[in-house]
Amino acid sequence: MINFQQHFAELGTKALQQLQPELAHDVGMKFLSFDPFRFLPPPTIAPLDVSCQVNVPGIGLLSHPVGLAAGFDKNAVAISALARFGFSSIEIGAVTPLAQAGNPRPRLFRYRSEQSLINRMGFNNDGIEAIRARLNAAKSVADSKATCPLGINIGKNKDTVPGAAIDDFLQVHAGFKNLAQFFVINLSSPNTPGLRELATPEFIAEMARQFGAEVNKIWIKFDPDMNRDTFQKLIEATGDAGMAGLVLTNTHRVTAPESGGLSGRPLLARSNTALEWAWDVHRGKIPMIGVGGILTGRDIVEKISRGASAVQIYTALAYRGPWVVSSLLNEAVIHLRERGFASLTEACGSHY
Ligand SMILES: Cc1cc2nc3c(=O)[nH]c(=O)nc-3n(C[C@H](O)[C@H](O)[C@H](O)COP(=O)(O)O)c2cc1C
Repeated sequence: MINFQQHFAELGTKALQQLQPELAHDVGMKFLSFDPFRFLPPPTIAPLDVSCQVNVPGIGLLSHPVGLAAGFDKNAVAISALARFGFSSIEIGAVTPLAQAGNPRPRLFRYRSEQSLINRMGFNNDGIEAIRARLNAAKSVADSKATCPLGINIGKNKDTVPGAAIDDFLQVHAGFKNLAQFFVINLSSPNTPGLRELATPEFIAEMARQFGAEVNKIWIKFDPDMNRDTFQKLIEATGDAGMAGLVLTNTHRVTAPESGGLSGRPLLARSNTALEWAWDVHRGKIPMIGVGGILTGRDIVEKISRGASAVQIYTALAYRGPWVVSSLLNEAVIHLRERGFASLTEACGSHY
């Protein structure tokens, strides 16, 4: 049954979709920054008759697997409102040491019929100091530990030379050490020149050495555009380095109809293949968060069945609006039931 809140949210989403995509995002985030739904009852994901609880090593036991992917709330301006949408975790950032403006606009493009986006944002963000101050001021952060763990997506500044990239990562990590529950090093955005080229086994080993004892809290996010051999060598290196896990994947690099990173429906198969190639190396030994192309609950089950412990979404939120988490979970439950699974965890790894 559609209630008033849901009806209002759907109208708002439709209205925003009439605007130029980045303007829509800015308007939406400004609205959410006031936490406009705070006087309404807390979000309830309707009780699911098939358990969707997941245990994500290093992050904890979550009531369901759907987290918010990096890039949506780059500056941590709307965590409380986003938590009310029902996400089980929220990854903010990418945060770089210094604030930077990113690429010139337009840099975000919507392809409605394909349910996809192309972006070339270029790590526009407010930098460590401002974002840390915002998180420190937000009561929701203290509250979020139990209900909605926060992650920090770690980037490097555009002007940082490759040899100093690890310093950038260490700085961002140090800046949020006591404020976030998990960290994801982003070696995969297609929009920061030279970033993807850092993803080599040697670089991962060196990064792990420099992070020292903290390494087991650091996840790595890879791109979906490598060949199998190159990709699997990186997965091996990630395992050898003792890192927390893998976030698979970032966007697919494209040059047409716009240059940038492609997300949404057309990314699904590619990022699912990345989960399969990774599984082939570690057989469940390295935790994975599956992200890329989830638009329906069935897509969630596909990622979990390929060995992901949890999933994240970005583009689905832009297309389906604030009710997307509960809709996705209800769809996932129907799909699980059809396939004869009694819980989501029972489906984990069942593809193999
Ligand atoms: C506008 C935009 C900005 C993004 N910014 C980041 C980012 O800063 N860091 C990152 O790791 N991924 C970023 N991503 C990638 C998403 O986190 C996600 O990996 C990708 O969109 C695939 O998921 P989806 O198909 O559900 O959107 C961004 C995606 C979009 C569309």
